[in-house]
Amino acid sequence: MEILINASAAAAEDLAARLVADRITANPELVLGCATGKTMEGIYDRLVGSHLTVGLDFARVKTFNLDEYVGLGPAHERSYHHYMRERLFERVNLRASNTHLPNGAAPDLAAEAREYEALIKVAGGIDVQLLGLGSTGHIGFNEPLSALMSRTREKALTVTTRRQNAPMFGGDEAAVPTRALTMGVGTILEAREIFMVVTGAHKADILARATEGPITSMVSATALQLHPRCVVIVDEAAAGRLEGREYYRWQFQNEPEWVAYR
Ligand code: GLP
Repeated sequence: MEILINASAAAAEDLAARLVADRITANPELVLGCATGKTMEGIYDRLVGSHLTVGLDFARVKTFNLDEYVGLGPAHERSYHHYMRERLFERVNLRASNTHLPNGAAPDLAAEAREYEALIKVAGGIDVQLLGLGSTGHIGFNEPLSALMSRTREKALTVTTRRQNAPMFGGDEAAVPTRALTMGVGTILEAREIFMVVTGAHKADILARATEGPITSMVSATALQLHPRCVVIVDEAAAGRLEGREYYRWQFQNEPEWVAYR
């Protein structure tokens, strides 16, 4: 794992978007794992910007999202399907048939989960997975005690997560669905490369637990410590509680692989 500390949230979003854009340029058939949430909005805006200004080409890119709320069909305006269409899919030249999210309104959710895993396999696996970090330490919707080898399945959401996501439901916590269909921690770990983006002082404690704490299913993001190519892109505010932050700063400023990105 490497932690790249940026001066601001905007700089962190810039860096994440540049890394994704560079991966797409290097491999126009990239299979991109997409996340949702506030942190991703700035990243998708920047990718749209690159598409419009320098012609970043999504024509052959495939996407797989991490999760979807149970009970919300693809047309529902609070669904992640809707979020993705608005934020990215309809603003670049992605082919709708190349975009994938689990269907939270499927009649048989276990079958939907199995099919989703099969689709990822048929696509050749995920090349680059974007991740945010939830307040409970979740990645996707892998809430505490999610098995570190779990696959796509239904998961009950914690009160903390439903509170965190209430702004997307007009501030009404009770309106946030109680369950979600999410890629498992094991599914996420199979991505060839992972970029997790974490910004804001409110994430400082959970970021420190996720990256420097012991690996535990209580904080599913700690499983990323096992991944050989995981880059955590943060701002100074989120980095505030990291014990090793001086070293991470030095590494970002001095390691040759980051020359083009600082
Ligand atoms: C949600 C999503 C996660 C996301 C996380 C962080 O619950 N399921 O995929 O990464 O919350 O969200 P935010 O970026 O809004 O802090």
